[in-house]
Amino acid sequence: LNYLTPKTRQEVLDLLLQGLKRLEYRGYDSTGVAIDAPGESHDIIMVKRSGKVKVLEDAILEICQGTGYADAVNVHIGIAHTRWATHGVPSELNSHPQRSDEDNSFVVVHNGIITNYKDVKTLLEKRGYVFESETDTEVIAKLVHHLWQQHPGYTFGELVEQAIQQLEGAFAIAFKSKHFPGECVASRRGSPLLVGIKAKNKLATDHVPILYAKAHRPHGQQYQLLPSAAGADCSAEFQPLEDKEVEYFFASDASAVIEHTNRVIYLEDDDVAAVKRDGILSIHRLNKSSDDPHAREIITLKMEIQQIMKGNYDYFMLKEIFEQPESVVNTMRGRMRFDTQTVVLGGIKEYIPEIKRCRRLMLIACGTSYHSAVATRQLLEELTELPVMVELASDFLDRNTPIFRDDVCFFISQSGETADTLMALRYCKQRGALIVGVTNTVGSSICRESHCGVHINAGPEIGVASTKAYTSQFISLVMFALVMSEDRLSLQQRRLEIINGLSQLADHIRTVLQLNSEVQELAKELYQHKSLLIMGRGYNFATCLEGALKVKELTYMHSEGILAGELKHGPLALVDDEMPVLMIVQRDPVYTKCMNALQQVTSRKGRPILICEAGDAETMAFSTRSLGIPRTVDCLQGILTVIPLQLLSYHIAVLRGCDVDCPRNLAKSVTVE
Ligand code: G6P
Repeated sequence: LNYLTPKTRQEVLDLLLQGLKRLEYRGYDSTGVAIDAPGESHDIIMVKRSGKVKVLEDAILEICQGTGYADAVNVHIGIAHTRWATHGVPSELNSHPQRSDEDNSFVVVHNGIITNYKDVKTLLEKRGYVFESETDTEVIAKLVHHLWQQHPGYTFGELVEQAIQQLEGAFAIAFKSKHFPGECVASRRGSPLLVGIKAKNKLATDHVPILYAKAHRPHGQQYQLLPSAAGADCSAEFQPLEDKEVEYFFASDASAVIEHTNRVIYLEDDDVAAVKRDGILSIHRLNKSSDDPHAREIITLKMEIQQIMKGNYDYFMLKEIFEQPESVVNTMRGRMRFDTQTVVLGGIKEYIPEIKRCRRLMLIACGTSYHSAVATRQLLEELTELPVMVELASDFLDRNTPIFRDDVCFFISQSGETADTLMALRYCKQRGALIVGVTNTVGSSICRESHCGVHINAGPEIGVASTKAYTSQFISLVMFALVMSEDRLSLQQRRLEIINGLSQLADHIRTVLQLNSEVQELAKELYQHKSLLIMGRGYNFATCLEGALKVKELTYMHSEGILAGELKHGPLALVDDEMPVLMIVQRDPVYTKCMNALQQVTSRKGRPILICEAGDAETMAFSTRSLGIPRTVDCLQGILTVIPLQLLSYHIAVLRGCDVDCPRNLAKSVTVE
């Protein structure tokens, strides 16, 4: 929304399309925009396409030619969306924005799921509304239209506030309306939403006050402005500069706005943020309860635009794999002191005594983040001497797992927004457990709802398949284990060995990355196969699971991570001279057992490919092909063994012609159940 200088429609469109491209990694099966039509009519024009943002861009270019789109406009608002289908197949009709009627009176973009949409739809159909899409989102636009007809005097913000009270499920929504030209209203519940603020001059305040409605406020009665937050210089409504030189951006994540501004507000559930024609931003909420805050803070993001660009790499995923020597250092920066061999995790420091008294540690996550929990469980058990449970968030919820006040629950999530993980967090919090967030996204829901936590500081991860976040999550959990064992005399030798291993990690990762062309050659041998089995045990079992997940996600080949100890209980039946088998065999406490499994495979005519320690000729002799990686401490090996598998899945995907950064049917951040 622009008040800065008159922009042309084309500039506004470019800005929206660029924002969509930045968000495309979150979902990419169809896209759409809604903008003001030329002239003074305040009509809204929508363009929607199934496919990627590029398809939409081409369509808009065609439509715009010679239609006056390039005219300057003083006030302009546009909304845009890139979709990952939940209700209704990817199609033009099901793309967002969704509209209230044929006049495009109210248009909305939505991220999330409205779980009671059928009830709302039935109600609206009875009132004569005819639905054109299969989406849950369409009910939102039509509901607001209905409310507008019922309450002609309501402001745009009030209409949305009324509407969200009738919606169940998860949403981040942004509206535009021909009846409220130059205004935009957005709200969230469960799905992330932020407001970016770009001003020519320094902002007059760091806080935006919250306006609370008095209980059961009849329409027309004023919102109540509560006293300012301590130290905050808040006026009744947020007007950062008198000359209104400000642009606002609503977005699902910071990558869409970072090239314009690094000043953002993360909205909370049920906030209704409205931007009006005169450049005023207001945040409204219904009824204040005693511990609700008075204002939302405007924070300054540290993210740089280069971090979300591909640089010289063909794909974000490859860039992120190669960033790992730096990202692991960033995770340890300011926390590991290698000279004094000390570890400090500022975000949980004060809670360590409480954590030490706990009944058990629970690590709860989804996907790759779950694998980081599997990878570090053994070390956590060893260094904390506590029972450690590792849980997939969805299964944990399905089971209504018993949780106690003296449990400590870790929620590991790159995005900090995964719906299952977030719901498991709320479940545990309600039951009084201590909540520790381990995320890569400052300001994310999991971050904000945790009692304490660790930012993994891996930098923005754009490739849908997670790589550098995994190694950084791994290290964060290792550092936590080190903190927990600081005063255990009997564990000091082990701690020093691990601290030493961490100090060499970046160099070791660089060495592993040199295998890239060797792995590419291997990919050429494997990419036409239907299946790939990945076996290991002990500290490397998680690598097998994670490697197989990478192969599935990116290449659409069948792949299974197999615990070598279970080989005889079924998977051995899959082994023959055709089936590609990758085995991870390290000189660690399970070496002999791994060698047994290796021999069982070779005696069934299997021809395993080994990931083992460089220079381990004795082990390599058992196979025709091996990848040698540097030796490190047993519990850190998993960080090195996973990298050849990240590279392998990448190269197989390229050879199979798959879109590496945007695998079919998947999304980076799964904010729906
Ligand atoms: C999606 C992504 C995975 C990720 C998982 C958990 O499935 O495609 O890469 O591991 O979500 O996401 P989170 O953000 O919670 O780590």
